[in-house]
Amino acid sequence: MRIKTAQEWGKMKKDITILAIETSCDETAAAVVRNGRIVLSNVISSQIDLHTLYGGVVPEIASRKHIENIDAVITEALEEAGVELSDLDAIGVTYGPGLVGALLVGVAEAKAIAYASHLPLIGVHHIEGHVSANYIEHPELEPPFLCLIVSGGHTHLVIVKEYGEYEIIGKTHDDAAGEAFDKVARAIGFGYPGGPKIDRAAKEGNPEAISFPRAHIDGHPNDFSFSGIKSAVLNYLNQAAMKEEVVNPSDVAASFQAAVVDVLVEKTINAALALNMKTVAMAGGVASNTALRASMEAACKKEGITLVYPSLILCTDNAAMIGSAAYYEYQKGIFRGLDLNAVPNLKIGEKG
Ligand code: KG4
Ligand code: ZN
Repeated sequence: MRIKTAQEWGKMKKDITILAIETSCDETAAAVVRNGRIVLSNVISSQIDLHTLYGGVVPEIASRKHIENIDAVITEALEEAGVELSDLDAIGVTYGPGLVGALLVGVAEAKAIAYASHLPLIGVHHIEGHVSANYIEHPELEPPFLCLIVSGGHTHLVIVKEYGEYEIIGKTHDDAAGEAFDKVARAIGFGYPGGPKIDRAAKEGNPEAISFPRAHIDGHPNDFSFSGIKSAVLNYLNQAAMKEEVVNPSDVAASFQAAVVDVLVEKTINAALALNMKTVAMAGGVASNTALRASMEAACKKEGITLVYPSLILCTDNAAMIGSAAYYEYQKGIFRGLDLNAVPNLKIGEKG
């Protein structure tokens, strides 16, 4: 890692405009973000339809599609924002965690543009990007706050102490919340992507139809476990099949979702109260879940806690959130050299 101050780059001026690139999974995305909070463009080319054919993300296909799409997505992002490369102050890119081949496409592209345009390069942690999505639509939001991160690969409770400074106070011991949604959806027969399909089906079902376990881990009040509930759903479905009983998929979806939501809300609220945190944020794909939003909203209101979460388009993978996180790195003068590499298992707060 090379650290240069913004002055060294000769870029100290009022407005900072960053081109951000995100290719960590199955969305090829580019955005232009000004001062970390104003989105001038946010282009997302989703590969979901392609991966749906295989029941999940196929890493090799994701990488190839990123290569095919990335130039057009970046061109569109610049055009929509009405800016040229010469108007930019930096290039921000997700360099981990994620699929290594997919990440490499974005990282290589960002390095090429940074080199050719003499712009500083900023490496962004994908999950820190998800957290930063909250800054975009909540101009009043400033650290410190508590953040529940719930994505396909992560379930974390973190204290955002400062911009870009995180203390992890809780995490999952096994599956991530989104992973549980995806696995259970597959078992019910909903296919990929599971989360939105369970969300939709649950609206037609009874959340009290089946009692699935709410996992708590002795001695770790802020930690999560979702493998038990996933197994409980699978057992329920297998037993029903053996007894040739008819299963109502919407009831299974609603009951599973209710169990996951209960645990996420209870642990978040307990942690916020214990830490005397007055603001709670949610981040990641699962934060778009309707039941989670409603339940967290009600619980926060009851306790006098302010709740923020991004709109749907900024909850799931996008590059605007990367542009926001990159801005706060820019402010600290944390720039990366052209040796920046993809780090598939990058930890939160780590500079790989
Ligand atoms: O943050 P994200 O887009 O990608 C990762 O960084 O992982 O999260 C994707 C995850 C998937 O597991 C997906 O099923 C889940 O978010 N998800 C949802 C909903 N929308 C997306 N889970 C529950 N309810 C939703 N509405
Ligand atoms: Zn994500």
